[in-house]
Amino acid sequence: MTSKDEFSTWTKAIQARTEAALDQWLPPAAMHPARLHEAMRYAVLGGGKRVRPLLCHAAGELMQALPEVLDRAACALEMIHAYSLVHDDLPCMDDDALRRGKPTVHVQYDEATALLVGDALQTQAFVLLSEPVPALAAGQTAALVHELALASGSLGMAGGQAIDLESVGKRLTRDQLETMHRMKTGALLRASVRMGAGCGRALVDDEAVALDAYASAIGLAFQVVDDILDATTDSATLGKTAGKDAANDKPTYVSLLGLAEARVLAEDLRRDAHAAIREFGSAAARLRSLADLVVDRIN
Ligand code: IPE
Ligand code: IPE
Ligand code: MG
Ligand code: MG
Ligand code: MG
Repeated sequence: MTSKDEFSTWTKAIQARTEAALDQWLPPAAMHPARLHEAMRYAVLGGGKRVRPLLCHAAGELMQALPEVLDRAACALEMIHAYSLVHDDLPCMDDDALRRGKPTVHVQYDEATALLVGDALQTQAFVLLSEPVPALAAGQTAALVHELALASGSLGMAGGQAIDLESVGKRLTRDQLETMHRMKTGALLRASVRMGAGCGRALVDDEAVALDAYASAIGLAFQVVDDILDATTDSATLGKTAGKDAANDKPTYVSLLGLAEARVLAEDLRRDAHAAIREFGSAAARLRSLADLVVDRIN
């Protein structure tokens, strides 16, 4: 098997086990209140690239974490991510009707349900993550909860989304745009790497610095790529409405730098991500391939 085939087999296996674990850790659709539980499952299951779970597992494997423990962190991350998408699509935010190739939650159900789906997924993520498991010390579990909470709140995703909404129709400086992207998207991707590693053995200083530099580069790269795809790819391929950033007058890397320069930045960030984990050698091959997976979407 070539290393490319091996990576592709691995991504499919992680996506499949994540799907199974999410299915198990979401309340059954028939459980009362059934409409809410059905809508939560609609938002989470059967779609998405599962990039955050992939990053979590790859970083965790590097630190010899157990796969079953990583499933828990990966599903908590994916629940927070799915919640952020459900709220991001609401009429009061980006007002989108298509997500992962299906009608958005507020279109399929209603706005109040979409709001509650987000609320309930957020808390379900912490129900999952805070549950004591024999393989983790209590301090490790607390650190995971802390990491995910920080990445999701006003200093992370939710704060970035607030800046995004305040910035409609404005021209941000490059620094302001970078801050917004690092918060709204980068924070959760960075947490995916840090939490994966946090499920395993203790990191020595150099390892922590290296992994964090990788996580930070890939976190920003992800939103730069998302901005590029919004401007260059059709809705059917994306599974969400293309051209939405320009239509909503959002500042993006494409509107600030133009397409060609945004592409150069994405490639620079790929290089930074690769460089950061060089010292790990072949043990970090999957993290390296994940940086490629993220940035190759624009090619
Ligand atoms: C889309 O995230 C929203 C951003 C943070 C840019 P993804 O591109 O990871 O969406 P799914 O999970 O694959 O649908
Ligand atoms: C979303 O950014 C970031 C989130 C926290 C959900 P976008 O608004 O660009 O995401 P898409 O393009 O709708 O997936
Ligand atoms: Mg948005
Ligand atoms: Mg959006
Ligand atoms: Mg986007």
